[in-house]
Formats: sequence, structure tokens, C-alpha cells
Amino acid sequence: MSSSADRQLPSYPYYEDFSPGSGLLPPRAWVPASDAARLDLGGHWAFRLSPSATAHDESFADPGYDASGWDRVPVPAHWVLHGHGAPAYTNTRYPFPLDPPRVPDENPTGDHRHLFDLPADWPAEGTAVLRFEGVESCARVWLNGQLLGSFKGSRLPHEFAVGGVLRARGNVLAVRVHQWSSGSYLEDQDQWWLPGVFREVTLLHRPPGAVADFSVHAGYDHTDGTGTLRVDAEPAGRVLVPELGLELATGQSATVPVEPWTAETPRLYAAELVCAGERIPLRLGFRTVAVEDGVLRVNGRRVLFRGVNRHEFHPEHGRTLDRAVMRQDLLLMKRHNINAVRTSHYPPHPAFLDLCDELGLWVIDECDLETHGFHAVGWRGNPVDDERWTPALLDRAARMVERDKNHPSVVIWSLGNECGTGRGLTAMADWIRERDPSRPLHYEGDLSCADTDLYSRMYAWPEEVDQIGRRVEAPWGTPELDARRRAMPFLLCEYGHAMGNGPGGLSEYQRLFEAHERCQGGFVWEWIDHGLARRTPDGRPYFAYGGDFGEEMHDGNFVCDGLLFPDRTPSPGLVEYKKVIEPVRIVVDGAAGTVDITNSHDFLGLSHLAFGWEYAVEGAVLAAGPLAVPPLGPGESARLALPEPAEAGPGPGERLWTVRARLAEDTAWAPAGHLVAWGQCERPGEPDPAPGPAAVPRRTGRSIVLGPGTFDAATGTLASLAGLPVEGPRLDVWRAPTDNDNGADWQPDERYGVIWRELGLHRMRHRVDAVAVDGEELRVTVRVAPAATDLGLAVEYRWTAAGDRLRLAVAVTPQGDWSCPLPRLGLRLGVPAALGLARWYGGGPGEGYPDTLAAARVGRWTMPVDEMQTPYVRPQENGARPRVRWAELTAPDGTGLRVEGEPRFWFTARRWTSEELDAAEHTHELVPSPDTVWVNLDHGQQGIGSQSCGPGVLPVYRLMPAPAAFGFSFGAVR
Ligand code: GAL
Repeated sequence: MSSSADRQLPSYPYYEDFSPGSGLLPPRAWVPASDAARLDLGGHWAFRLSPSATAHDESFADPGYDASGWDRVPVPAHWVLHGHGAPAYTNTRYPFPLDPPRVPDENPTGDHRHLFDLPADWPAEGTAVLRFEGVESCARVWLNGQLLGSFKGSRLPHEFAVGGVLRARGNVLAVRVHQWSSGSYLEDQDQWWLPGVFREVTLLHRPPGAVADFSVHAGYDHTDGTGTLRVDAEPAGRVLVPELGLELATGQSATVPVEPWTAETPRLYAAELVCAGERIPLRLGFRTVAVEDGVLRVNGRRVLFRGVNRHEFHPEHGRTLDRAVMRQDLLLMKRHNINAVRTSHYPPHPAFLDLCDELGLWVIDECDLETHGFHAVGWRGNPVDDERWTPALLDRAARMVERDKNHPSVVIWSLGNECGTGRGLTAMADWIRERDPSRPLHYEGDLSCADTDLYSRMYAWPEEVDQIGRRVEAPWGTPELDARRRAMPFLLCEYGHAMGNGPGGLSEYQRLFEAHERCQGGFVWEWIDHGLARRTPDGRPYFAYGGDFGEEMHDGNFVCDGLLFPDRTPSPGLVEYKKVIEPVRIVVDGAAGTVDITNSHDFLGLSHLAFGWEYAVEGAVLAAGPLAVPPLGPGESARLALPEPAEAGPGPGERLWTVRARLAEDTAWAPAGHLVAWGQCERPGEPDPAPGPAAVPRRTGRSIVLGPGTFDAATGTLASLAGLPVEGPRLDVWRAPTDNDNGADWQPDERYGVIWRELGLHRMRHRVDAVAVDGEELRVTVRVAPAATDLGLAVEYRWTAAGDRLRLAVAVTPQGDWSCPLPRLGLRLGVPAALGLARWYGGGPGEGYPDTLAAARVGRWTMPVDEMQTPYVRPQENGARPRVRWAELTAPDGTGLRVEGEPRFWFTARRWTSEELDAAEHTHELVPSPDTVWVNLDHGQQGIGSQSCGPGVLPVYRLMPAPAAFGFSFGAVR
């Protein structure tokens, strides 16, 4: 017979049990400021790191303990970013055995001690609360030797009542933090594992009669323009809204005309909650969110999310962000036409939501919950389907909703990310619905949508999104659930995987979002690269990623997949996204002399914008002026006549009309003149006059001279051009595979970056078959092919010269059974390193590839070659300027080389070869050649796509091998 002790459930220590914590106060609303005293306890705290949870006893919490020998760490911070231990990155894999709720003995544990006095003016009456905004992943807390309790839930606030223990002087706060806890099983988000007290710790005075909690209900009725306000508070008090002439008792409601809050018009009313013991300033935003007739509406209108997924990240401070960085993120978003944030995958610092209220962003507030790593074991043991975990899940839901309930910017609650399905999620959903019926619920991981109000997916192909938009997607689940889901609005909570170069194909999605009422936009994955700032031993800076900290298990640079580089410089992907989602569509028809303007805002008219037109020939602006645009409401369009500039008569040079919409006045997020949207249209000019009489190739010794070119007579290779030594040009098909070329290993489709390397496209061999002079032409035939296969490319180079120009016609014929696209198709040319300044007429100023060139504006651009490089954290193909008509590379003395494309080409110039770019794993490994600038003149480029975690390149952007003919003409710049 077994004893009762045998049958007892094992009892685990607090850091391994199922409970969310102990000794805590109930969660409540975030109060950024009130007239009650508060003390920021941040600073440099004494710190000791232990290798396990039990390496040291808890005597360090005794007030008399001698911690003078301890180190110091800043609070808030992650200790691994301050010289204790190291960060580690995994995507979905838990870096410890799956044995919930147990964690390994190797459990880095940080003991913290902080001594503080109360300020002299700290009120004698009342009590006090100790508040932690965020600790990863589990903390046990003592004040003056008394155990207060413990908690888990890293990105959620926790409070303890400390009035009875607090002293005027010599308080000793002791906090033990474990990197791993049962809570870690609920926090398997794709990011660095970064333990520590990483958000503020504050002591809050609670006067007698202080506000325990309050809920703001501020709805907007679009049918009559009124707002209805009710503030519930405990204890009761009064609410003052001077601007609306309102003074209400809490619990009482009033309806008055108001200006509504939207992300485009973030109108906030200053108000105050006054209770017997505390006054709290409020900022009210009136708005109503509803799902009606299968559409998500705010204030009665369908909204379109132009969103991003935002993790909290700073290259030096990890997830410890100050207000300035939060504001910088939001200014960058607003300036790039982004109107929505999903707080992937946890509630952000609460101040971020204040800024969203103020600057105007729609927010999906997501709970701190992901159990993705259980996928590896067929979801066995998944905490969200095991009721022992349900209290912890409900605790997380409550801490998010209670903290953030008063933000107008928060329009959707999200249960979490990638947890599979289970009863715990349903329990969370039920609780949230009951507590806050005013906001719809989101969760992507359950295709049945049983617990949600929205249908959400990640990385679906455009075809599928189109089906979903037409509500004809494949059935799923029971007929009832299927019908329910089919009647829901649709979001792509993640799409456009911005890892390395890319994402490609954003325009295709945007067209679907604009075509189908049901498709209410998406959220690009993700906002910022999580590269950690590091230096080489000799001091050169670079950004580190998974594996750079000696992790025994890691997921490499998959952590660098943002629209911003780690230092918050916008990547080309962000510039592209800004163009794709611009809230005004400008379509110029130069031939007809018209421009179509469509207002794609959801709420705003166009009066905040100033429109201007510009007329240029060959990139030189000849005339410009303002454009009067009628007041178009959201969704309205108008066709306007463009002025006919006097200079627009016939003549050589391409004609180019550009129409721009700029901010007419300063806003909270950008100054007047900030470019919001643009459109462009070109028309060919008259053909250039013939360059002069044709030259005939002449053989001199081992060379052939043709016009300004001197060739090696044996190989037919150009050796110098107008006296400049050159290498090549010769056919080139290789590019350093991008992260999106390589794809992710779980992707079902062909991954071309991998196939290219298997095929050997990075080591093509060139065999000259013939060098022939035929009249005015020098003809060189070559076969270009990789080893170990019979695939090849037959190439014919036909050189002619006229005047001071050398012309090259290239014909390429694929041989054999090619079944994959080529990385690129064009010429590679080496020119002297002195030619370090580029000037070109074509797409710019940044890079563009076939499916990422919406933002490339045609113009005349000048840029040092060094600045044409895009510093992807893991080096890869970058920097191509699309649709280039001509390009020049010049030395400081102004002399150099000019290339004209016949037809337009992709122009790339860099101080290393594609092979060197391919070999580098970090930016600092790229060493500029002292001798050569390598130039690629491409007829074709393979698209970019999003296959590092999503759809590959769409068929129309694939560079399938096919007979191709293209040409260039070369000349000197003097
Ligand atoms: C999603 C996940 C994100 C991130 C992304 C890939 O599946 O929700 O957290 O991992 O893939 O970067």
C-alpha cells in the first residue's frame, strides 16, 4: 500500500511551482503620475551572480548582511549586458529540457541589494506600495528582512504592500532573480534570453483615501458626434474635464459633443480623477471599437492597419528602454506612414502606450505568453492545455488588461503568440471578455478562432489572402466554427519577414488589403534587428547575434529581422514599406498631363498636406510649383490637370513628372515639409544623336584596340578603357545569398539560395571559345558554367566603337535543363579604387530589387561608393540601384568612367567582391580592396521575397534562365 506521502504531488520551490506568485496586490491601472509621492529606486544596486538557485542561502536579505564585496549593476538592466554571464538567443527551442514546470540546476541567479532612505518630505500618514514594472523571469523580494513574496510574468507589473515594513531611513531591499523558472515555459518568445530587473522599481506612497484602481470608459458615437464618459473608481471620487465643462461623480456618465480619438487624429482631453486622498491626471480619448458585419470598425469606419510588430530592443540595453527611445520608435513609425503596432509578444513598457495615445497608433496589446517550443514534442505538456497552469495564465491576462485598460490606443487584446491551442487560452479569453467587452480579442495560433473575434494569420501567401478576402478560404473546423470565422475581419498579424535584404512583395499584399474590405491590413515582422553592439578586440564595432556569445544552442541571425538596423537607422525595407502604405495614392500620367489623387486615410481629409509638382528633364528640375488639390474625404479621388511647363517641348532627355504630398504644418511627429507620399511618371525624350563615326578593331601585338578600348587579343578581355585599367567586364550570375534567398529550413518550397550553392553558381568557370574580328565588330564567345554539371550559359560579347564610346552587346543563351532562377544576370567589372564617387540617373537614393522597388524614385543621385552599401547585420547581397539609365564613377579629380545601359540596368558598386560579401558573417569582416571598386551592371536580378519566414519570391519576380540580350556603352568622364 502506498502511503499518503507517496500520493502527494511533489512540491516545488516558488520558482518552479505553477503559481504566478505570492504576497502580491491585485493588478490595477498604470498611473504615470499623481499627486501622491513616489520614489524611483533605480540606480546602482549591489549584485551577486550565482550559478544556481540554491548556491547561496537567503541570508543576503538580512538587513545586517555584509554585501560590501559585491559587484554593482545598474537597475533597471539585464545583468548579462553588464559583465555577468552572457545573453543567449533561441527562436522556438527552449534552452533547457522540456520537463515542465522544472528548470535545470544551472539557473543563473542574481541577488540584488539596495539601501535607501525615504525623502525628508515623504508623508508620515498612509501606506506604501513597492512596484516592479518588469523582472525576468522570477523574483523573490524582501524589505528590511521581511519576505514580501515572489512573482513571475517578466513583462508585467507586480506590487507589494510595504507600508508596515518601511522605515524613514536605512531600508534594505533585497531581490533574488532567477533566470529560469516555471514562468520561462510561458515566455518562449523568439528573442534573446535576458534576465534581470529590466524595468523600473518604484516606491509609491498611498495616502489615506488613495485611488486603488480606476477604469475609463470613453466611447464615441459617430452617428451624432457625441462622446460618453464614465470613470469607475475605487474609492469613489470626481472626474473633471475642464475643456468639456464636465464635472462628474465616478460611476456617473455624461454624453457631450467631442472630437473623437483615432490614430490619425489622436485627440486627447486633459482630465483629472479626484478622490479623497489622491488626484490623478488623465488623458481621455473618445473612441468605440466594434466588429460589425464582418468588419472591424473604429468610430463607425473600417480601419486599415499599416502595422509593425515591435519587440522592445536596444543594442546596448536589451529590453531596457528609456522614454526617449520609445518616442524615437514612434516618431520613426509615424514618419514612415505606420499607423499600428502589435506589441509582440508581451505588453510593452506602459509609458510606450501613453506615447501611442499621444502620437496616434492603433495598438494590439499582446499578453506575455508563448509556448512555441512545445511544438517540438507535438505540443505534449503544453501549459495552455493543462489546468495546473491556468491560474498563471489568468494572472497574466489580468495583469495586462488591468494595467493597460485605460489607453485609447489599445484597440485589440491579444492572448499571446504561438501557444498552440488549449483550455487555458479559452479561460483567458473568457476572463478578458467579461472584464472588458469593449475590445475585440486576437490570437493567431488557433485556426478555428474559437476564442477570438478576428481571424488572424501569419505569412500567408498572397493567393490565400485573396481567398480570405473573398471569404472563400478553405473550410476549417466544425461548420459552426467555420461559418463564424468566415464572418470575421481578417488580419495578417505577421507578414513581410524583414530579415536581411527585404522583405520583398509588400506591394502585392497592400493591393489585397485595399481590394478586400475583410482584409484590414497587416503587421510586418518586425520593427528592429536585435543585434547587440559589440567590438572586435581591436575596437571595431559590429552587431552580434545568436552564437556570438558561445551559446551551445542558438538560432544565429534569425534574431536580426527588423525594418530598423539595431542602431535604429531605417533599413531599405522600412523606406519601401513607407512607400507601399502611403496614405495618399498619387498616380501621374505624364502623357495625358493628369494626376489622380486618392485619399487613403481612414479619417483624415487632405488639408494637412501641401501638394507640389515638379518637371525634370534627365533628372534636372526645370519647373516646379504647388498643386491645388480639392478637399477629398477618406476614400475619395480626383483627377487633376498638371500644368504644362513651358520647357516641356520636344528635345533629348527623359521627361519626368513628380507629384509630392508633404506635411503643410509641423505635427507632433514630424516637421512641416516632411514627405508623406509621392508619384512619378516618365516619358522618353528624343533619341540621342549618333555618337560619331564607327571605329574598326586594330590588332597591335598581343592587343586589339577598338576606339577607346584595348583588349587582350587571346582572351578578348577588355584591359583598359580610355586609359583606365579595368578588369572585365564579364558575365556574372552570383550574388551573396540574402537571408530570404537562403530561406528557413522548415520552408516547404525550394530554397534558391541553397540550390544556387549546391549548383556551384558561386564558382562559375569561363571558357573562351572564340575571339574574332568581323568588320567593325570584335566578337568574343564564351561558355560560362559551374563544375560537375552540364548546365551552362553560352555568351556572346559583341564590341563596337563609335566616337569616344565603346559599345558592348551581350547575348546569353542557357544550355541544359535549368530549373531554378539565376541570382543575377549581368556583367561584373573591376575599376581602379580611386573611382570612389558614384553618380547615376535612375532609381534611388537607396537600393531596390524587383519586388522591393516601390520606393526607388527616379532622379539624378550622387553618393560615395562606400555609402551605397547597406550594412545588413549578416552581410549579404545589397546596394543595387534599380532602373538606372546611366552611371558614372569618378575619382577625386573628376575623371572616371561612364556607363549607359541599353536597356536600363541594376547598378551596384562595392569595394569587395560578391564572394567576399558572401564569406563575411559580420560587417567588420568586410575589408575594402585597396585596388578595386567592383561594379555589377545587371540586366536582371532575382526578386527578394520573404522566405526566411514566409512566402518565397513570387513567380513574376523570378529570374528564370532564358535567352537574353542587353548592352552597355562605356566612355570616359573627363
Ligand atoms: C513568427 C513568430 C515571431 C518570429 C517570427 C520569425 O512565427 O511569431 O515571434 O519568430 O515568426 O522571425
